[in-house]
Amino acid sequence: MPIALILMIGCDGRIKSDQNTSRELHFIDDGEAAAVHEGRVIRVSSDGAIKITAEAKAEADLIFDDRCTACHGSNGDGKGPAAASMKPGPKDFRDVQWQKSVSDEKITKAIVSGGEAIGLSAGMPGNPDLEDRPGVVAALVAHIRSFGK
Ligand code: HEC
Repeated sequence: MPIALILMIGCDGRIKSDQNTSRELHFIDDGEAAAVHEGRVIRVSSDGAIKITAEAKAEADLIFDDRCTACHGSNGDGKGPAAASMKPGPKDFRDVQWQKSVSDEKITKAIVSGGEAIGLSAGMPGNPDLEDRPGVVAALVAHIRSFGK
């Protein structure tokens, strides 16, 4: 789902409509912009990229521990207890070649819509509740990227 475009009434800062991305950007005092989607504020940097806030990172870290480590392992090696009998099993996120081969978009889609949505196994469950939380999903993607560093 695109980050949308809802203009809120009573925004303190300057409001600028970005024609290129058709986003409404609300400029907050510190110069950062925020897009508002379904009542949630998502920070975006001036180039339109989603910015990961400290809150989003903290939430993503909790979600990873809670929902992902059972299969992917807390170190991302894909050897979590629930994955022992899975075929195919999760990839080793520490594998630098795998990290190079996969785009952020693909990782994002796997997380939100599940493995089948990107032609992988349905053993990878989707997280539809994160569809309108792009900042948290971006932080999960960064979490996965951190295993390859
Ligand atoms: C029930 C086990 C299970 C859980 C829970 C799970 N995954 Fe997966 N995940 C898998 C499996 C198995 C695959 C590999 C599917 C394949 O290669 O066909 C996978 C694949 C992926 C991929 C795609 C990797 C690629 O090769 O492109 C990503 C990204 C991913 N998982 C992230 C997550 C995140 C983030 C969470 C938690 C929100 C999570 N997974 C929860 C089992 C799981």
